[in-house]
Amino acid sequence: MCGIVGYTGPRQAYPVVVKGLKRLEYRGYDSAGVALVNGDLKVFKKKGKVADLEENNVGKDLNGHIGIGHTRWATHGEPSDRNAHPHQSQSGELAMIHNGIIENYAQIKQELLSKGYTFKSDTDTEVLLNFIDDIKKNNNCSVEEALRIALKRVVGAYCILLISKDDPETIIAARKGSPLVIGIGKGEHFLASDASPIIEYTKEVVYVNDYEIAIVRPDELILKNLGNEKQTPYITKLDMELAKIEKGGYEHFMLKEIHEQPETIHDCLRGRLQVETGEIKMGGIQNHIDALVNADRILMVACGTSWHAGLIAEYVFEELCRIPVEVEYASEFRYRNPVVKKGDVIIAISQSGETADTLVALEKAKEQGAFIFGVVNVVGSSIARISHAGAYTHAGPEIGVASTKAFTGQLAVLMMMALKIGYAKGTISKERYLHLMNELDAVPDKVKQILADTSNIERIANKYKDATDALFLGRGYNFPVALEGALKLKEISYIHAEGYPAAEMKHGPIALVDENLPVVFVATKDSYYEKIISNVQEIKARKGRVVAVASEGDNVITTMSEDVMFVPECDEVIAPLLSTIPLQLLSYYVGVAKGYNVDMPRNLAKSVTVE
Ligand code: G6P
Repeated sequence: MCGIVGYTGPRQAYPVVVKGLKRLEYRGYDSAGVALVNGDLKVFKKKGKVADLEENNVGKDLNGHIGIGHTRWATHGEPSDRNAHPHQSQSGELAMIHNGIIENYAQIKQELLSKGYTFKSDTDTEVLLNFIDDIKKNNNCSVEEALRIALKRVVGAYCILLISKDDPETIIAARKGSPLVIGIGKGEHFLASDASPIIEYTKEVVYVNDYEIAIVRPDELILKNLGNEKQTPYITKLDMELAKIEKGGYEHFMLKEIHEQPETIHDCLRGRLQVETGEIKMGGIQNHIDALVNADRILMVACGTSWHAGLIAEYVFEELCRIPVEVEYASEFRYRNPVVKKGDVIIAISQSGETADTLVALEKAKEQGAFIFGVVNVVGSSIARISHAGAYTHAGPEIGVASTKAFTGQLAVLMMMALKIGYAKGTISKERYLHLMNELDAVPDKVKQILADTSNIERIANKYKDATDALFLGRGYNFPVALEGALKLKEISYIHAEGYPAAEMKHGPIALVDENLPVVFVATKDSYYEKIISNVQEIKARKGRVVAVASEGDNVITTMSEDVMFVPECDEVIAPLLSTIPLQLLSYYVGVAKGYNVDMPRNLAKSVTVE
């Protein structure tokens, strides 16, 4: 969370930085700011979105060929103009932006206060900046050297960009835990939290590693470690298209990304799922097939929507591979003392590949000898790089804060993995294996069918938009889908929603049911169908308002539900890939009907790089 951008080169920096910040707004949008050097060091910042900053800057002198900019997701200090980044050192000589958390900032602040420093903001960033400036003064050293000394004291995570009044060419950057990409142009450099602000200028990038410092000038990029030793920058070619990060005629990124799913799921399966030959080609699995087939246990580690993908995968892996699976919240896993041993396989699931809790959990498990397999969307991200092996989801850049197409991409990858491992292990028959391959292959077209006409879902959304609470219920493979449906509604429409196993509802949530409560059943035709129909009856008997996601042609559930959203029939193992789509649309349309910014829901951020 927090997006950072930097530019040094012959162009005007302000437009480059502001455009980049707009691309990174999914990372946080509590405030935005830019610092430029043009004779003097000038800082412009404002509470709110990047557009508010731009409006506030109309008519100002925004010239300068070097600039840094920040879009904030608040950690230390409320969202306000004064807590917005960039921060300026007390001497006025340095300006800095930061993504991350300095955990020992209070102690450093105390030391600086006793030296007579005063602070304009409540942020940990301003403390680190003055600490660097203080070291520079006391040691009579360069900013780079002062930064290096300061970072040795710092506990926490950071990606920082630093510029000085006296140096109209150099941006100094450092990273630990929070991402940083540097784009290499002709006589110019671009810095950003991800590649999206860079893509229109250059395809050559360097991913900076933890504990590295970058000294970036228009025609020079020097990478060093904290020991001041030069590192060789490893240049990667970006495989990303500009069109993929623009709205392409849709009103919101979320809607565009929901509608992209036939294509993204197809891209994910393409070249891997070879129905004609009965093969699943996944290099990451094939190269480590023994570790995977012989795994004593699989631990899925993830957060948010990715955690729900893990829960679905638990059902699929246990069914098809007969390997015990545990699904862990990364934030809990990293702090308790989990039992991890050699022979355990950790499957890390993450859209961004940068979620701090997931990243640290993996580092911990890796130290204990586990094999790490990453299921990641963002190519070259930190989780992708620390994994022993992995499979990308190939969903393309996901900008909407609520995850949609990345989630179905994760499911597609995990289902292919389970099929491949189960078949290699002999825990599924050839017949079932081939049947499920065909079922997976048919998913993109079936998703297309659901998306062909969304007017019924939009109507249902408008009907229930004023509900204050909602319950989402499912069984088996569709239970985690219910959890994800509830999460989506909370995120986008701010309606309190809970997901529950449909039968477990009797042990508490049923007390909430009255004639106002919408109860969304995910009740496609599967081996639990008869059971869930009984649960529907139980809700109806208490006058709850039943909304169902059901299989096409089901005319039993229509008699019991106020409203139904149909999906094509499919094997129950595959069902979550379809049953989740109407729920994404439902929350989207409720959010829109309520007038909310569905791409940037309040308080949330997409890439959570703080713990
Ligand atoms: C945030 C996002 C969610 C996402 C979660 C995990 O909360 O808003 O959409 O599921 O982080 O992120 P990851 O990038 O690790 O999948």
